[in-house]
Amino acid sequence: MSESAAGDTRLAGRRVVLGVSGGIAAYKAVEICRRLVDAGVHVAPVLTADALHFVGATTFSALASEPVRMALFDTAEPIPHTRLGQTADLVVVAPATAKLLGKYAAGISDDLLSATLLATRAPVLVCPAMHTEMWEHPAVQENLATLRRRGVHVVEPEEGRLAGGDVGAGRLASPASIVEAIAAILGSRAGRRDLEGVTVLVTSGGTREAIDPVRFIGNRSSGKMGHALAHAAADRGARVVLVTTVERPVPALAEVVKVESAQEMHDAVMARMGPVDVVVMAAAVADFRPVAVAEQKIKKAGGPPRVVLEPTPDILAALGASKRPGQILVGFAAETTDVRGHATEKMLRKNVDLMVANDVSAPDAGFEVETNRALLLDPSGRVEETTLMSKLALADRIYDLVVDARAHLALDERR
Ligand code: CTP
Repeated sequence: MSESAAGDTRLAGRRVVLGVSGGIAAYKAVEICRRLVDAGVHVAPVLTADALHFVGATTFSALASEPVRMALFDTAEPIPHTRLGQTADLVVVAPATAKLLGKYAAGISDDLLSATLLATRAPVLVCPAMHTEMWEHPAVQENLATLRRRGVHVVEPEEGRLAGGDVGAGRLASPASIVEAIAAILGSRAGRRDLEGVTVLVTSGGTREAIDPVRFIGNRSSGKMGHALAHAAADRGARVVLVTTVERPVPALAEVVKVESAQEMHDAVMARMGPVDVVVMAAAVADFRPVAVAEQKIKKAGGPPRVVLEPTPDILAALGASKRPGQILVGFAAETTDVRGHATEKMLRKNVDLMVANDVSAPDAGFEVETNRALLLDPSGRVEETTLMSKLALADRIYDLVVDARAHLALDERR
């Protein structure tokens, strides 16, 4: 992502309530505020009383578009939470503490920020930050799952140095990736319903190929990119079919098919292909599987087993070979060398309309991380290299190109 969000049309002129709750990462909210204001966003800061232990209200009042608000009851403006909630295009909470998430999930509104969260129909983004033990506590994870199920967006914390010198998961995501997530949400809410009436099938996660009842051959795919693609398609009005190997939050109305192996994924995709307009093969499908799956657990005493492998069906290649006119195929290529060369070869071999190629050896792109950077290639020779962005933002960029490709196809048909 570029250093500044200035000039980003997804942000300029939008109204964002920036909620700051009481964690050490509250100082990073100052940077988020500055970046948003620089991008032309009207920022209304709302701090909790605990936030004041970590940052000064004056800092936000000086940087933001209006003075900091904290009080639920104000003589000048009797019920600020309703105005804030109703006029916002987005409410973002960064950092969101365990307490804030708990109150929001339970519907408790005992201060201005928690009341504003309940008083808004705008999209909400929470950016949790806390110590690893708290982050991993089932109470916090269940609250977050509840919020996700209700459509709340989440930028997950990163691994890194925490308060007190500990290292682990729980550090607030970077201001750049939070601003990018804000832009992606506002962008998709800016009336872009350009996939209405379109059925999009997305595959997500890595397949597991059984060796015996307890062991499998797998890969590092987390399903984050695939699920971001499902959410972005749904946001833009598509009917979404999601064939996935992983359990992650899914769009409200999506048809979700849970599979495990390459064969199951192949069968699930092929059975549903008829009415599908766009297929996005984001899954990391195993190329090989054991020829035979042991019925019982293989015992160590028998010495190292000989696992003989055979190829799995290549789903994307099968789709490319049987593609009907008007269908768009999006393929992925995870590479560690000559990204462009290998991706171009795969695109042509598998008859794909758009190839998304990653250098998975980069630490900030590819498997498991929140961000991605890709080369987008099409058979006409067009190549676009994206900046580092959230997976949701990359998903939106991919659909921009899919919409273009569909428009070209429609034009060709009319000729
Ligand atoms: N793919 C698939 N079925 C497979 C293997 C891969 O549908 N059995 C899809 C992936 O979902 C991805 C694309 O093909 O969209 C590229 O996968 P990749 O494994 O990188 O390509 P391969 O052709 O297997 O090339 P290689 O392993 O030689 O890099």
